[in-house]
Amino acid sequence: MLSAHDPIPGNAKRRLNHQPLNQKDRALLLPMTVLPFLKLYIILPSRPRSVKHIFSRSRIPIPTGKKLWYTIPIYWVKRRETMYLADGWQDFEILDAGNGDKLERWGSFVLLRPDPQAVWPMGDHRADAVYYRSQSGGGHWEFQKELPESWTIRYRGLTFIVRPTGFKHTGLFPEQAVNWDFMADRLQAWRKGHSESPRVLNLFAYTGGATCACAKAGAQVVHVDAAKGMVAWAKDNAAASGLADAPIRYMVDDCLKFVRREQRRGNRYEGILMDPPSYGRGPGGEMWKIETGLYELVSECAKLLSEDPCFFLINSYTTGLAPSVLKNVLTVALPKGHAEAQEVGLPIRRGNLVLPCGATGRWVP
Ligand SMILES: C[S@@+](CC[C@H](N)C(=O)[O-])C[C@H]1O[C@@H](n2cnc3c(N)ncnc32)[C@H](O)[C@@H]1O
Repeated sequence: MLSAHDPIPGNAKRRLNHQPLNQKDRALLLPMTVLPFLKLYIILPSRPRSVKHIFSRSRIPIPTGKKLWYTIPIYWVKRRETMYLADGWQDFEILDAGNGDKLERWGSFVLLRPDPQAVWPMGDHRADAVYYRSQSGGGHWEFQKELPESWTIRYRGLTFIVRPTGFKHTGLFPEQAVNWDFMADRLQAWRKGHSESPRVLNLFAYTGGATCACAKAGAQVVHVDAAKGMVAWAKDNAAASGLADAPIRYMVDDCLKFVRREQRRGNRYEGILMDPPSYGRGPGGEMWKIETGLYELVSECAKLLSEDPCFFLINSYTTGLAPSVLKNVLTVALPKGHAEAQEVGLPIRRGNLVLPCGATGRWVP
């Protein structure tokens, strides 16, 4: 069984990186291709009717032709993953973590920021900027060298503006890249069977990482956030990613109020995602509390799913909510499909470690 700390086996990893297989990998291919079918037949809650049925439950689009022979082993490996690992970055990496901090490279700049999960020790390090928490709440950055006010980093054809902000954030949650990939895959697969573009609703949408990823995958996106400044940042990210003219509607609104209004208007979506904070406020001071508000919001959103939906995704950085809580919420609110949930993580370069970054629940029809 793979654990979060094991690397993805060389065979699948190489295929994911589009590198050729060596002889040993080829020898493994046949058993790896046969096994998942045997295993899936046993573990799937309802028996698979066809290859199409198996893949319709996964985040991997239905493979065709040449792709089939290597997608099956990758699918087998992914079924066994115990974590959604955002390991596709080149412009970002966690160099090290420990002592309550994480040392990250954002493009060519190295930042040290607090991370309460990093409770183990860390070795020597040097950062270009360090965020210090103050006793009275909040904190400040200290710069060891002159940094630009903002700069850009890239991820699979998307460009994001990052900037060290007053509240330790940089304007991007890089672990979310693993969810951007999942949604892009689902949307692209959906588009193959339809002539129109899928519609996506992004709630608590922040600076628009997911909005850009979904728009790049061909979706029409409605982006909702309470903070005007975040919505403006999201527009800048879309423009930087070449999506200035993409069909994205930006709304400064309270999420629950917006969802209820969409119900009355009869608008429907193929994909819905949300990344709610523990506490928050709508633009009119509306109180948001994840423990008391999450189920209500998800069940109201469920009414907005179209007849032929594509995905429903909940992310929560709130440490109190285990992945199985998200899975339960999705299963109760959307009983017809299939829900799964895992921790989300980022690889740490030193020592083959993984930094946990909350949890994600994914539902597919
Ligand atoms: C940054 S994301 C959350 C990311 C991550 N889950 C975390 O907790 O750090 C939270 C976003 O939700 C927005 N927000 C908070 N309450 C809201 C509400 N009631 N309606 C709409 N957006 C809200 C904030 O403006 C912010 O951009």
